[in-house]
Amino acid sequence: MKLITAIIQPDRLDHVREALIQADITRITVSRVTGHGRQEDIEIYRGQRIAPNLIPKVRLDIAVNDEFVNITVDTIIEKAKHGTGEVGDGKIFITPLEECIRIRTREKGGKAI
Ligand SMILES: Nc1ncnc2c1ncn2[C@@H]1O[C@H](COP(=O)(O)OP(=O)(O)OP(=O)(O)O)[C@@H](O)[C@H]1O
Ligand SMILES: [Mg+2]
Repeated sequence: MKLITAIIQPDRLDHVREALIQADITRITVSRVTGHGRQEDIEIYRGQRIAPNLIPKVRLDIAVNDEFVNITVDTIIEKAKHGTGEVGDGKIFITPLEECIRIRTREKGGKAI
């Protein structure tokens, strides 16, 4: 199992979600977050480095069985991009997921996901 965390532009959220559902990825957590990537350069003001402004982003957390990683990542990349790709379009992090437990039934692992 893997946890796929994607940070995307808010205006792409519905597009990404619709495509994920078409690809049978129907379970998702969506959070409104803020952040900055590498373009939001650290400005120097009077010799001091200033933290850049935080930009609104959307975070997707999707836990999947291993065979769904590629389709999930490909779908997010295809639908989150503006045109052929612009700075700030986002980033995807993939982490190993040790366990998943459905509270209602106590099922564990891949069948609980
Ligand atoms: N290394 C990181 N750690 C944590 N969050 C990150 C990291 N890189 C990017 N993010 C988050 O993802 C958002 C989108 O990042 P962004 O797409 O600007 O990445 P980038 O590395 O600057 O690439 P690009 O050059 O395409 O803009 C950021 O606003 C921030 O919230
Ligand atoms: Mg950036």
